[in-house]
Amino acid sequence: MRPVPTPTPTPSSSPPTAYAWEATDEQVAERYGVPLHRIVRFDLNTSPAPPDLALRLLRAGDFGRAISEYPPSDYRDLVQAAADRYGVGEREVLVGAGADEILDLLAKVFLPPGASAVIPTPTYALYRVLTEQRPARAALVPRAPAADGYALDAVAIRLAARDAALIWLCDPNNPTGLPERDGALADLLAGLLADALADGRTAPIVVLDEAYAEFVGRSHVALRDAYPRLVTVRTASKAYALAGMRVGFAIARPELISIMEPYRPPGSVSIPSVAIVAAALRDPAVLAVNLARVAHERSRLAAAFAASGFPARPSVTNFLLVDLGGRDAARTMASALLARGLVPRTFGADHPLAGHLRFTVRDEAQDGLLIEAFAELAPPLRTAVDDPATSEEPRP
Ligand SMILES: Cc1ncc(COP(=O)(O)O)c(C=O)c1O
Repeated sequence: MRPVPTPTPTPSSSPPTAYAWEATDEQVAERYGVPLHRIVRFDLNTSPAPPDLALRLLRAGDFGRAISEYPPSDYRDLVQAAADRYGVGEREVLVGAGADEILDLLAKVFLPPGASAVIPTPTYALYRVLTEQRPARAALVPRAPAADGYALDAVAIRLAARDAALIWLCDPNNPTGLPERDGALADLLAGLLADALADGRTAPIVVLDEAYAEFVGRSHVALRDAYPRLVTVRTASKAYALAGMRVGFAIARPELISIMEPYRPPGSVSIPSVAIVAAALRDPAVLAVNLARVAHERSRLAAAFAASGFPARPSVTNFLLVDLGGRDAARTMASALLARGLVPRTFGADHPLAGHLRFTVRDEAQDGLLIEAFAELAPPLRTAVDDPATSEEPRP
């Protein structure tokens, strides 16, 4: 699930009661007085699958036992399909109920209470939530500015990692939408290993969340050979468009997987989910069709944002980040979109992306609604943002 940061961050020592999960469609409909059927979620990074996909994949499974029985506790068929798809051994795969369950498990297993975890920010909000829930200390390391592609600051990460048990990395990064430059993560891991050797300590666990890896066509799972404490996280939710199935994976060397294994729930992924995701992983057409759809719709949305005067940041993923030029403008645009039932991802006032909105690439009809709304709402907002008398931002 996706945490929504609250205005007051929870101190590490407090119980994590200040976090809330995102509002449901029903709650949004009620809050903004919009009929439920008009709600479109541009905030969750889930791009709809072609309508026939679930049925086609369902046919591939045997569901005779699905209602009354537990799934096989080793998820054998799904593990085989994932190992083949990701090019790793079956003993290097662990199944979870979405990447989120895997991330939760990693915090539980590798982040002891009182330890420290490095989080390059801005990034996926759940890393901080899980860190603080241990409770552990979140060492936040800012990423480079937008002009430098929000790249990781390897020097600062290595420094912060000196007393850290775990590092949360995300590539391509959510919510900024870009991958690291080729070789950057290999160099960072080599540096982390060298620092640990020099200090005579165990290198930190590096969690590399590759939820969006298929969109860039590149993975770093092979780096587990050079950096044995690397855990790569994959999901069926994004490029496979199967978020409702709740299936994710940890990929790591067998030694690490066997440390995690006893902590995972034995049957958190249902029999239909096991069968559907295994079939999708084995069918190259599923991925190819979704990637093509997302790429096409992403260009259409990007062109519309640019035409409206608020160009999106470059993105390789199924979402686009748009700078609205200030917090007030972002808030105004978000409210106007919500009044039409179109739900953007907003960022809290303290967030480094507070003046931005993030939009998931959805299907042609839904994206059309967003394009129409932007064309109407953006020009007056652009004028207000550009007017020094009304602009809240200091001008150069
Ligand atoms: C970076 C990242 N990791 C994990 C997830 C959650 O994935 P899953 O649906 O597999 O739990 C998301 C969802 O938005 C995400 O953006």
